[in-house]
Amino acid sequence: MPTRTDNRPHTVALRHVLGGLRAGGPLELMERAGRQSQGALTRLDLGAFRPFLVTHPDHLRHVLRDHGANYRRGTAMWKAMGRLTGLGIAGEGPQWRASRDLWCKGLAGGAHAFADGTAAAVADAVAELEARVAAGATVDAVTEMTRIVLRVVNPVFFGSRIPQRECDRLAAAVAVAFDSLLWRMALPFVPLAVPLPGDRAFARATRTVNGILLPLIRRARHARHSGPDLMSALLDGADADGRALSDAQVAQDIVALFVAGSESSALTLTWTWVALAEHPGLAAEVRREADAVLGGGPPRPGHARNLELTRRVLAEVCRLYTMAWAVPRAAAAEDVIDGVAIPAGATLVLSPYLTHRLPAFWEQPLRFDPGRFTEERVRGRHPLAYLPFGDGPHQCVGQSFFFQQAALVVAAMTSRFRIAVPTRAEPRAAVALRPRGRVDLVLSPRR
Ligand code: HEM
Repeated sequence: MPTRTDNRPHTVALRHVLGGLRAGGPLELMERAGRQSQGALTRLDLGAFRPFLVTHPDHLRHVLRDHGANYRRGTAMWKAMGRLTGLGIAGEGPQWRASRDLWCKGLAGGAHAFADGTAAAVADAVAELEARVAAGATVDAVTEMTRIVLRVVNPVFFGSRIPQRECDRLAAAVAVAFDSLLWRMALPFVPLAVPLPGDRAFARATRTVNGILLPLIRRARHARHSGPDLMSALLDGADADGRALSDAQVAQDIVALFVAGSESSALTLTWTWVALAEHPGLAAEVRREADAVLGGGPPRPGHARNLELTRRVLAEVCRLYTMAWAVPRAAAAEDVIDGVAIPAGATLVLSPYLTHRLPAFWEQPLRFDPGRFTEERVRGRHPLAYLPFGDGPHQCVGQSFFFQQAALVVAAMTSRFRIAVPTRAEPRAAVALRPRGRVDLVLSPRR
C-alpha cells in the first residue's frame, strides 16, 4: 500500500475533475482520478462537495469490514433512491436488517424450489427468441437480455404471480423511475418543491409502478397463498418491530428487487456478449463448453456448476464491466484511514470499478482474461481486490443466483446462435454501468 505519513489525502483538483467530466462524463473523471491516485486515498475536489475516493483493497477492508458500522448509506444517492425503494432493503439500521433477513430467506427458498423452473424458463425464453427472429436478424441486446432475465426471475421473485406482460411493463417503469433520479442524486440540496429534470418522468413512472403493484399485493394477501418465493417471504414477514410489512413497504421492496436483481443481471449479460465478440477464440471455447455440457438439449439446473469456463468469463465481465462503478457511504463518526483523517459526515465513494483496474493487484488489468478466476489464482489474491458484488454487511444477496442463471443463459444462447456484435460498445456511468447507445446482437441460428 502506498505509505502516507503527512495525514493528507491525495487530491484531484477541481480543474482536473471538470476536465474529466467534460471529456467523458463521470466515468472518465473516475478513470483519471484512478490513474492519478493508484490506490491512494484521494479527495475529489468538486467545489463545495469533496468526497473521498476509496479504491485500495486495504482501505476497502477498513470501510466495509473492520469499521462497517461507521460507514452507512446516508449519502445523497441513497436518499434519492429511497424515494423509490423505501427504507427496507435499500436502507440502514433495524428495518434494513429485518428486510435483509426476509430477502435471504425468500431468495434461498425460491432459488431452491424453482431451480427446475429457472432452467426451463431460460430454455423457453431462448427458444422463443429463436422462433421470433429471422436468421441474421439484429436485436437490441439490453432489451432481449432484460426479457430473458425477467422470465427467469418471475417464479423465484414473485411465485409467478405477476403476468409476464405486466412484469415487462413494471420493469420498464422501474427503469425510467430509476434513471430519472439522476438529477436528484447529483443535486441533493435542491428542495423537492423546486422542479428538476426527471421529476415528471419519475412521478409518471412511480404512478405506473404503484398502479401495477398495489392491486397485485392486495390480491395476493387476499388469496393467502404462500409459497417459497421472495414475495411470499415479504408478505408473510415482519419488520423490525414485529409488525407485518404494509402494502407500500412490500411494493418498495419489490421495486428494489427489480433494481437490484434484474437490471444488473441483464446489463452484465449484455457486456458478456460484447466481451465475447471481442475475443472470438474465447467465444469458440465457450461454445464448445456449452455443447459438451448441454449435449444439444435444453439447460438443466445441474449444468450450471459444470459450465466452469462460462462462469469464469462472467466473473471477468463483472471485473471489467463493474455494474457498481461507485458505491457511496457516509462516515457516521470521525475516523482515520491509513493516516488520513476522515471527518464525521464525510462522503466516501468506493469504486470497485477502479479497484479492479489497479496494476498492483491485477497484471495487465485491461486485458480480458477469465484465467484470473481459477481457484489457485483467486486464493493468491487480496480478498478485497475483487468486489463486484460489494462486501461487508450490505454484500449482495443475489450473487450465486446471478451466476447460476447467467451461466445457463450464456450456454443456452451460444448453443442456439452464433452471436456477433457489429459495433464497438463503450460504457457510460449511469446509476449502473450501461452501454453508451444501443448494443446490437446479430443472431445466426446454429441449427
Ligand atoms: C450482476 C449482477 C449483480 C451485481 C453486479 C450486483 C451488485 C451488488 C452490489 C455491488 C451490492 C452492494 C451495494 C452496497 O454495498 O451498498 C449489491 C447489493 C444487493 N444486491 Fe446485488 N448484484 C447483482 C445481482 C443481484 C441479484 C440477482 C439480486 C437478487 C436476487 C441482488 C440483490 C441485492 C440486494 C438485495 C442487495 C442489498 C443487500 C443489502 O443492502 O443488505 N443482486 N449488489
